[in-house]
Amino acid sequence: MAGKDTFYVTTPIYYPSNKLHIGNAYTTVVADAMARFKRATGSEVWFLTGTDEHGQKIEREAAAAGKKPEEFVGEIVAWIIELWKELDISYDDFIRTTEPRHYKKVQQIFTRFYEQGDIYKGKYEGWYCTPCEAYWQERELVERNCPDCGRPVELIAEEAYFFRMSRYADRLLEHIETHPEFILPPSRKNEMINNFLKPGLEDLCVSRTSFDWGIPVPFDPKHVIYVWLDALSNYITALDYGEAESGKMARFWPADVQLIGKDILRFHTIYWPIFLMALDLPLPRTVFGHGWLLLQEGKMSKSKGNVIDPMVLSKRYGSDAVRYFLLREIPMGQDGVYSLEALIKRINTDLANDLGNLVSRTMTMVERYFDGILPEPSPPVEESDAELQGLALQTPALMEKRMDELKIHEALAGLWILVRRSNKYIDQNSPWELARDPAKRERLGTVLYNLVESIRFIGVMLEPFMPRTPDKIWSQLGLQAESASRDWASLQQWGRIKPGTLVRREEDLFPRLNLGRELHRDQIREEAAEKKERPHKVKKEAGPQKNAASEEEAGLITIDQFARVDLRAVTIVEASAVAGADKLLQLTVDLGTEGRRRVVAGIAEYYRPEELIGRQVLFVANLKPVKLRGILSEGMLLAAEDDRGGLALTTLDRPLDPGSKVR
Ligand code: ME8
Ligand code: MG
Repeated sequence: MAGKDTFYVTTPIYYPSNKLHIGNAYTTVVADAMARFKRATGSEVWFLTGTDEHGQKIEREAAAAGKKPEEFVGEIVAWIIELWKELDISYDDFIRTTEPRHYKKVQQIFTRFYEQGDIYKGKYEGWYCTPCEAYWQERELVERNCPDCGRPVELIAEEAYFFRMSRYADRLLEHIETHPEFILPPSRKNEMINNFLKPGLEDLCVSRTSFDWGIPVPFDPKHVIYVWLDALSNYITALDYGEAESGKMARFWPADVQLIGKDILRFHTIYWPIFLMALDLPLPRTVFGHGWLLLQEGKMSKSKGNVIDPMVLSKRYGSDAVRYFLLREIPMGQDGVYSLEALIKRINTDLANDLGNLVSRTMTMVERYFDGILPEPSPPVEESDAELQGLALQTPALMEKRMDELKIHEALAGLWILVRRSNKYIDQNSPWELARDPAKRERLGTVLYNLVESIRFIGVMLEPFMPRTPDKIWSQLGLQAESASRDWASLQQWGRIKPGTLVRREEDLFPRLNLGRELHRDQIREEAAEKKERPHKVKKEAGPQKNAASEEEAGLITIDQFARVDLRAVTIVEASAVAGADKLLQLTVDLGTEGRRRVVAGIAEYYRPEELIGRQVLFVANLKPVKLRGILSEGMLLAAEDDRGGLALTTLDRPLDPGSKVR
């Protein structure tokens, strides 16, 4: 593959001390989208991820679980690999720091540093944060806690090896100042310079003697190598550093993008480049410190028990939807917020309404008006045609530019302009009206051809972000066997899909979801999960009862089953916004002799609180109560929703006593 551009992208290697949460998955989904994009646009890509398995933190957590470290990490690593499969992470290599290919090289690196005088033996007395695996000076502590994570630090005093950081500090500072793309986004650069480099770098302690779970110093084996020196080396040991014949170092080093969370910036922009300088290796082109994925109530943390499990979310809503949400919702480099409301909104708006409807409307019309046989376009080219074509042809270059700037959310936003423009093209040309006039049959054919071609463009550009959806599009467009019309190069030419191709409407790409129902389900699942052991959480959701009769499979219920739903007509007597949830209203409904109930409903985008007062609506009265945003919701209002995102409450057409039964 001589002459091809190479692209080496890495994620941090994860501590296999817990299952990963959605914030951890964010890093890897971003790296995957970059890797897929570069592959699609013709680079030779190497995408590395893996696990960081040594250190005191892992040793302690294994002990707490009553397991040997090897056994403890093995189980979690297996889960992580399963998660990456679930999320379609297309890594080229997965490195574990316990593998011989890694730890032998780390020993060689340590020995080299020692032999060339970068490392010397001394004594360490100071503070250590085990969760962060980081050393601190007394003056750096914040109220005697770790300045990074706020947790207690431990005083340690042991014989240790030290790395002479100061030897390289000036060179590093100069590199940072002369390579504006080295630390991104730019705001993170000054933080590193002012907080760490300018005050002067202290020598770094790079070995420990007080525990065993690490790589031994080869010439002094009662010491284990500091876990960050061990871990950071993975980015080159995975390329067979020191084995010239494998060729991977020559092809891929220096890395193009090293993607990390902002909390581990210091390790990647100070220690790591200094280790590389000491090895006489060039520095990565860019270390990108992305933002934090937060919850509405603040940080996700295992101890608060509020982490979001990406495996559960992906199994529930599909990996493409979860990937789309992460990539689109969080501006690269900034913090973003996960909430189920925001996820459902992205699914309903961008995926179901914009993309899903474009495909289903177009397919339906080609079937209805042309028996599914793609018509031929014919001149003249009208203004709306030229505009659509022009936009489609410009979008690939726009996305390439934004991806090169590492602005993934903007690349996706750019693609969605084409999706929305295509929907607008339908409205502008009203094919259903053209279809009524036999003289306009050619025009109708042109309009539908252009739409199908635009969908082809969109399908190609979607793949790096949502790898599963394009196949569903190709099958509807009859392009499964036409790989030449599905690659990036095919986007240079408008009009590639052949007239006469058989297209057909299939299942909707993204069925619309009901927010209220999803919030409700989420709550029920969480309550169930709290009672059960966590590892079985996923299985629990498997769906309907096993002994489902064939009628049940056909979606039929008996009158008795229906009667179990206690449906009532209720009067809304109070309505107000829910703090911090812009899609929810809290309502009080009157059930007459049975008193009043409080409910939370996902209707704030459709009704103002004051216009609801006094209305009579249908209500499910025997739904298991759940807490939504801290408010106990005891029942559910019934509403109808259409495919365009319209929603209407089911009201009564004449007044009745509140609490009346609906049968
Ligand atoms: O730090 N939002 O591993 P790790 C976004 N083993 N990103 C988050 C996040 C959140 N809420 N929480 C964590 C380590 N992350 C080391 C790395 S690399 C040589 C060694 C990110 O499992 C975090 O910033 O604790 C980091 O980039 C990644 O998850 C792995 O964290
Ligand atoms: Mg390169």
